[in-house]
Amino acid sequence: MSLCLAIETSCDETAIALLEGRRILSDQVASQIKAHGRYGGVMPECASRLHTEVLQGLIETCLKEGGKSYQDLDHLAVTRGPGLEGSLLVGVSVAKTLAASLGIPVYGIGHLGGHICAAFAKKSPQFPFLAVIVSGGHTLMVDVSSFSKMTVIAKSRDDACGEAFDKVARLLGLGYPGGPFIEKKAKEGSAKIRFPRPMLKEGLDFSFSGLKTAVSQHVDALKKEGKALDIADLSASFQEAVCEVLVTKAKRALEQKDYKQLVLCGGVFANAYLREGFEGIAKGLELCVPEPKWCTDNAVMMGLYCYYLKEEGLLNKQEAFCVDPNLPLGII
Ligand code: KG4
Ligand code: ZN
Repeated sequence: MSLCLAIETSCDETAIALLEGRRILSDQVASQIKAHGRYGGVMPECASRLHTEVLQGLIETCLKEGGKSYQDLDHLAVTRGPGLEGSLLVGVSVAKTLAASLGIPVYGIGHLGGHICAAFAKKSPQFPFLAVIVSGGHTLMVDVSSFSKMTVIAKSRDDACGEAFDKVARLLGLGYPGGPFIEKKAKEGSAKIRFPRPMLKEGLDFSFSGLKTAVSQHVDALKKEGKALDIADLSASFQEAVCEVLVTKAKRALEQKDYKQLVLCGGVFANAYLREGFEGIAKGLELCVPEPKWCTDNAVMMGLYCYYLKEEGLLNKQEAFCVDPNLPLGII
């Protein structure tokens, strides 16, 4: 089994993992949330600087925990996009330099394919499957016939779902990133407010900016009337609207093809309420959801994606690569 060191620095987590085949030997994540939290969002220059500060130490911790040395490595995998250009450049530069000094291959691979493969740490993919990727930057449904044939069948026409969580959290005065705060508050409230479910009745595409605006208008109206905000009920009501939209669209997509598996992935699926919302919709097909820690950004998912791409023989030729902040899904 070949030994892979995976590096992920596409946004605000510096993540390193060590995998032997698909066996995970070490999984390290250094989060930058504290540094960005005070700005209410990711500061790109600060993100690049923090990746540079911690990367080398994290690689060494990872090797130590896995009981391996640099010389044991067979190849490296690194995220080359999509993401913040400066952050991606830090990871890719370190990966290329390390690979050159060790005389081993380095594969630049896509972050979104990684999110999908986080679901296959223990289960194996059975094609075709439907992947629902819901993160801070993307809301996609993807028809996956193989890892070389991934077709986006739905996307958000405006804000990504995670972005809506983050914006709504900000306007409710909660912290960053907003998702975990909204999930926590929602547990204390009930979904009393009927927010709109944008584009629920038609098609597969999503829209979240109208929902965010509806929450904002509701909050403004309460403030004008001098009424107190019930943050818990607002959070529960927003979360319920999101859940209904995601589940309805996924059900609709599942009706269009005979899928063998349904994969739910990306940071927003760390949310237990949303995960539960999908239970029972996947009749006759296998539901594959990563552990919550592998829904948000991590390097295990990149190591797994590299493993499955190699299995399909898609990484036989090592080609020169560079970062691509807008890398589409499925382009290796
Ligand atoms: O996948 P991810 O870590 O990074 C991107 O590739 O974007 O996703 C981050 C997003 C953020 O918008 C964050 O608020 C959201 O995932 N998120 C959640 C939860 N945990 C993280 N959203 C809802 N509930 C959660 N528990
Ligand atoms: Zn991500």
